[in-house]
Amino acid sequence: MSESTTVFTDLIHSRRSVRKYDQSAPFDQQAVSRALELAILSPNSSNMQLWEFHRVASEEKRNQLAQYCMGQNAAKTANELVAFVVTPHKWKGRAEMNAATIRGAFEGREDATAKRALKYYEKLIPFVYNNDRFGIFGLGRKIISAFIGMKKPMVREVSKADLRVCLHKSSSLAAMTFMTAMRAEGYDTCPMEGFDSKRAKALLGLHKDAEITMIVSCGTRSEEGIYSERHRIANDEVIISH
Ligand SMILES: Cc1cc2nc3c(=O)[nH]c(=O)nc-3n(C[C@H](O)[C@H](O)[C@H](O)COP(=O)(O)O)c2cc1C
Repeated sequence: MSESTTVFTDLIHSRRSVRKYDQSAPFDQQAVSRALELAILSPNSSNMQLWEFHRVASEEKRNQLAQYCMGQNAAKTANELVAFVVTPHKWKGRAEMNAATIRGAFEGREDATAKRALKYYEKLIPFVYNNDRFGIFGLGRKIISAFIGMKKPMVREVSKADLRVCLHKSSSLAAMTFMTAMRAEGYDTCPMEGFDSKRAKALLGLHKDAEITMIVSCGTRSEEGIYSERHRIANDEVIISH
């Protein structure tokens, strides 16, 4: 194993979901800034970057949000809480930003690759991301997709609900990068989906269409911070070769 493999393997082994932090341990908020800057480099669907990272460090707001995390110890004893949020309503601006980047990168080129890349952000993305309140457009896309799919391979996940899944996937990857980066900084985290999303959204002042993927608490593990030995089912039950 190379040195970097060993370092990475140790890092992954040492990350645990910590439910109780040592509040007397020093905490460097710059570590959270650095870890979030790395999280932003995570892969994300079509590079639309439809995510936001809301930091809650002030005592009053943190305590309030911890209550909305159902009073979990992992939230109550944390130094900082970070909400990973998806922002579907920002799709138009992001599609335009990507198209502009492509126009710049392919300036003066009229070849098929440049045209295809531009068409992707100018036609396909608006087609898939444009949704009405009730998901009727998405239903229409689903029917079109099923129809085309009878003759050739076709992406099937085109409904409004499918788009939510798509955005939460990207946001989750960012959360994972963040948690790994925090561990590399010597700190601990706990991802949480056990929270009152309505109250948490209001507290963070989120747009009505935004959703919280998860809230990640941060701090330094206390002695009783890890509840049990790590356990996973057998590799051969989940790693399947074809
Ligand atoms: C999406 C997601 C939501 C989770 N929500 C909670 C939660 O609300 N509270 C909690 O204590 N742990 C939560 N966890 C942590 C898991 O329980 C934990 O990752 C799992 O038990 C494996 O332990 P490990 O992370 O230490 O390897 C969550 C994990 C994920 C990925």
